[in-house]
Amino acid sequence: MENKSITVTSPLLPSLKDFIPYLEDIWDRKWLTNNGYYHQELEKALCNYLGVKYLCLFTNGTLPLITALQALRITGEVITTPYSFVATTHSLCWNGIKPVFVDIDSITCNIDPNKIEAAITPRTTAIMPVHVYGYPCDTEYIQEIADKYGLKVIYDAAHAFGVTVNGKSILEAGDMSTLSFHATKVFNTIEGGALICKDGQTKKRIDYLKNFGFAGETIVVASGINGKMDEIRSAYGLLNLKQVDDAIEKRHQIANQYRRELENTEGISFMEDIPEIRHNYAYFPIFVDAEKYGMTRDELYDKMKENNVFGRRYFYPLISSFSTYRGLDSARSKNLPIANKIADSVICLPMYAELTENNVERVIEIIRK
Ligand SMILES: Cc1ncc(COP(=O)(O)O)c(C=O)c1O
Repeated sequence: MENKSITVTSPLLPSLKDFIPYLEDIWDRKWLTNNGYYHQELEKALCNYLGVKYLCLFTNGTLPLITALQALRITGEVITTPYSFVATTHSLCWNGIKPVFVDIDSITCNIDPNKIEAAITPRTTAIMPVHVYGYPCDTEYIQEIADKYGLKVIYDAAHAFGVTVNGKSILEAGDMSTLSFHATKVFNTIEGGALICKDGQTKKRIDYLKNFGFAGETIVVASGINGKMDEIRSAYGLLNLKQVDDAIEKRHQIANQYRRELENTEGISFMEDIPEIRHNYAYFPIFVDAEKYGMTRDELYDKMKENNVFGRRYFYPLISSFSTYRGLDSARSKNLPIANKIADSVICLPMYAELTENNVERVIEIIRK
């Protein structure tokens, strides 16, 4: 049996041949960064593709989180989820804000809105939920709570590129949303990201903040940072955007194959599509019930590795269990039973556009045995 490595992900790359004329043009222009031609073109193309009006490109997906908190002048405490990538919580700490963890919903893996109100204190100023695996949070319920208590909402939408609910972009929910265009994401610019906001004035301020706070040649209006995306990655992004729909469709087929063939495997469960949502199939998480499956999650993960199939325990460990955060009251396991259970049972299976049917079959065979 073929035993070549199957990695959990593989980047979507534009054709090198198509990229070369873009590089030649950049060499001719001699304008490499600072809101150049391709940067402006990619912002326009992304607004158009995503169905949003105001988007600011960034050099990765962490700086938009940090900048959103700055732009909205968030302080004190922010309610967030422990079931995410560490950057979500780190962005709070980089702003001197105390994270307050709230448990997640067992179906969506997103923050459980029913548990948010109990975590609000006089110091709470915002909620930072994550659309985990691209599955939308209950944005209406979260907004209701935010409005009731006068809180801002910043969505970490790093996984939710191109996701719509009833034809409307998920990125319009809350006050701001962030995206990551990291190499492992559905749409990538190698490293990259974006911050989506609701009006032109706010976009202008974010553009100052990502350029050291410069509002003119000699005017600095805030202690901004350097978050600018360069021309080469912007051009790469423009090319990659042309093939992203195709890539999402291929991911969809892979998800269908996994679902079809793992449906009757005792002790293995997975997430289903929701009819009103356009999913992006960013990840394919499975959840292992050790008792029913007859093997723990880690045993299955190791068995996959022994067969040269590399899944990822995403998200494990929980953010709240890292040394930086585990001292917080809200990080205690008894406060986060669902998040702990899911973190201990999840494996994200290999998922990327170029994954072949035969390789998906190989992954399935290992899990079924
Ligand atoms: C949920 C989430 N938030 C934030 C980030 C950070 O994005 P980046 O790696 O582009 O800085 C990631 C990236 O992996 C992520 O998965």
